[in-house]
Amino acid sequence: MNRALINSIKTSFKETFKTEPLMIFSPGRINIIGEHTDYNEGLVFPAAVNKGIVAAIEKSNSNTSVAYAADKEESMEFSLSNIKPLTQGSWENYVLGVVTEIQNQGKTIGNFNIAFGGDIPGGAGMSSSAALENSVVFGLNELFNLSLSKEDMILISQKAEHNYVGVKCGIMDQYASMFGIKNHALLLDCRTVKSKPFEIDFKDYELILINTNVKHSLSDSAYNDRRSVCESIAKMLNVKALRDATEFDLDSIKDQVTPENYQKALYVIQENERVVKASKAMQKGDLKSLGKLIYASHEGLQKQYQVSCEELDFLVEQAKTNLNILGARMMGGGFGGCTINLIAKTETESFKTFVSEAYKSKFNKDCSIYSVSLSNGTEIIK
Ligand code: GLA
Repeated sequence: MNRALINSIKTSFKETFKTEPLMIFSPGRINIIGEHTDYNEGLVFPAAVNKGIVAAIEKSNSNTSVAYAADKEESMEFSLSNIKPLTQGSWENYVLGVVTEIQNQGKTIGNFNIAFGGDIPGGAGMSSSAALENSVVFGLNELFNLSLSKEDMILISQKAEHNYVGVKCGIMDQYASMFGIKNHALLLDCRTVKSKPFEIDFKDYELILINTNVKHSLSDSAYNDRRSVCESIAKMLNVKALRDATEFDLDSIKDQVTPENYQKALYVIQENERVVKASKAMQKGDLKSLGKLIYASHEGLQKQYQVSCEELDFLVEQAKTNLNILGARMMGGGFGGCTINLIAKTETESFKTFVSEAYKSKFNKDCSIYSVSLSNGTEIIK
């Protein structure tokens, strides 16, 4: 956890609101493999990381509530009755959405003040939004004794995103952020919403993230479009979700769908299988096979599912030129954000220099490189 961040959020809360807050850390996540499978009720392999959102929160006696986004130095005052999404809102809608969805559960909260900040950039594909949602719901649950379970809380966070932000996301991000376990990744079944922890020790290898520092617009609508394509094909196949379909099933309706949509559904079916294979490879400590699956995942995301972009593809191509990188792929929703790379520890420093220069000369902008460690989920900071 980032002590400097914790101290600065706590200080800014105390200066603004003149009381002692409850402090919460809510992590972002990485995802080893299993992209765009969550809303198809399939499998994913995420882990919470030691970067995310720090929130300071406390009850207020005033008749309005105040949220302060420390990174942006922006604040919002609102009344708990009659909340609506802000048309121009960004971070505001995550907070308002969570409050509304708590109220929709028939739970009553009083006024509160919250200040928050983070150490993952928005748009990095590391789920800063899920981290923020979870920090708000977790904090309010504590303050107002709402008796919400962690399962309840992640569904509230997810609904906030659906209804206030307009992204029809799956459950992976909120789950990983809430349920993360130190040094573990979680093989999550998004139908049962239950996971199996895998202790992660890649021995001579490690995971690094390379942020393209781009987030292409339209990513939200493209995301929702992908989801509806998947749902309509599942319907045609008479299955609850694409998780239940095989390639053989899909072939039976091949002439009834466009070639593009056929490829998208095929990607989902294959990616789900890759997650199963990846979990087996990890059990055996077979990092070479894991790496191949990671590269194959990128290929599918790029060519079949079409959610990658030039910058992400470039970073993966650079990784492929280095035999000490076993796998690399785009991570998260796509259209920007980070790649995740499984790299030999001895190679990390030189590859960082190499790829930073290559990226700069190709796009005339900087990429950012992060090492992360796997952390516990949303919790109170003692
Ligand atoms: C975003 C969504 C997740 C998931 C990923 C893609 O991060 O919030 O639910 O669908 O994209 O795997």
